[in-house]
Amino acid sequence: MQVLRVTGGARLDGAVDVVGAKNSVLKLMAAALLAPGDTTLGNLPAISDVTIMRQLLEGMGCAVTESTVGATDRVTISAPEHLQYEAPYELVRKIRGSICVLGPLIARTGRAKVALPGGDAIGTRPLDMHFAGLERMGTEISIQHGFVVAEARELRGASIWLDFPSVGATENIMTAAVLAKGTTVIDNAAREPEIVDLCRMLVAMGAQIDGIGTSTLEITGVDGLSGTTHDAVPDRIVAGTWAMAAVATRGDITVRGAVADHLRIALDKVAQAGGEVEVLADGFRVAQADRPRSFDVVTLPYPGLATDLQPQAIAALSVADGTAMITENLFEARFMFCDEISRMGADVRTDGHHAVVRGRERLSGAPVRATDIRAGVGLVIAGLVAEGVTEVAEIHHIDRGYVRFEEQLRGLGADVERVESSTFGP
Ligand code: UD1
Repeated sequence: MQVLRVTGGARLDGAVDVVGAKNSVLKLMAAALLAPGDTTLGNLPAISDVTIMRQLLEGMGCAVTESTVGATDRVTISAPEHLQYEAPYELVRKIRGSICVLGPLIARTGRAKVALPGGDAIGTRPLDMHFAGLERMGTEISIQHGFVVAEARELRGASIWLDFPSVGATENIMTAAVLAKGTTVIDNAAREPEIVDLCRMLVAMGAQIDGIGTSTLEITGVDGLSGTTHDAVPDRIVAGTWAMAAVATRGDITVRGAVADHLRIALDKVAQAGGEVEVLADGFRVAQADRPRSFDVVTLPYPGLATDLQPQAIAALSVADGTAMITENLFEARFMFCDEISRMGADVRTDGHHAVVRGRERLSGAPVRATDIRAGVGLVIAGLVAEGVTEVAEIHHIDRGYVRFEEQLRGLGADVERVESSTFGP
């Protein structure tokens, strides 16, 4: 089994580049289904989730070509006039985000048969709000033999209130509404930068959307959309990961290509930890001179602190001066990460959706397992501030969302290698 072997002790120092956000790119690729013809997406990350999404679109009849422009990848998706409307389990189970093909497929073909993604290591992830919204627009939805089967004779605009500003539900409803008859209003819509990115691409394709970036989206359906060229929004979670890595290792990292404004609360936490934050024209710099001070974390929908930064924050807090309270409001099982980081000597106790982290001077290297993408990078950060060697297993999770993670870490002075494990076996 391949692992990341991290030898602790380095202070991260230097510059890294951030490219397009995984959580946007997957949705932009799915939205290409909405227009027959070519859609070109730029600033793509070279991650395994993009490869899987590509296979999914090819299975629906799209021709997909990749090219490299400078340091980033581009993909051109040619959607046919007649789409296949099925998404098979073997691909959907690998990336839960692939459920975002549901809205575009219903909008284009009036039907969809998409495998249910199933369980996830960060907790139960129901789709009830996706279904309720699409049903209000005239779609009949049933679960048949592990598939979501959807049919709409005519998609009609509707007034939809979400119980919670769900990213995925907002996206699926929005991508169906752009080709529906009449106007759809989504109240309590998610406002994540990735939603704004998708809205901008849809508008460039000819969609009519008002209220972009607010919690009320008003979408007036049009007869057809056309392909476009669009660069994905920078990955704020990857950028925030570097910020937390700088805090933990008392490092000095310049994050190029990031939007500091998308990380306002995370960067405020860096300042609370005693870090210096400098906003640059094309990113930001975080410099942490002394041992970080503890700060509390409450995860919330955007503009709140992202749940996807919670494990990285806990890694930094595990070596901070003081005690921190973490409140996880989105995914209860995310605290599985705490059991792993505890193996490294971190003092973390959980109770329901709260965790208390009492900072230690240092952690102690140990073999640990990544339970999801963000837990994986959280454990690598912990390894950087641990005495001795840490082996992080299940690194396919990290490869889903981080481009050449260990190379970038080495560029900052870390001792990290991808090796066959001596502990975990084959
Ligand atoms: C997306 C991101 C994920 C991030 C999350 C929250 C992708 C591929 N993934 O996931 O990395 O952590 O946003 O920022 O973009 N919920 C329901 N019913 C539903 C839908 C959601 O109860 O129909 C609940 C979920 O269980 C969760 C909360 O709503 O507690 C938020 O989920 P949601 O915003 O939908 O997350 P995802 O789109 O799945």
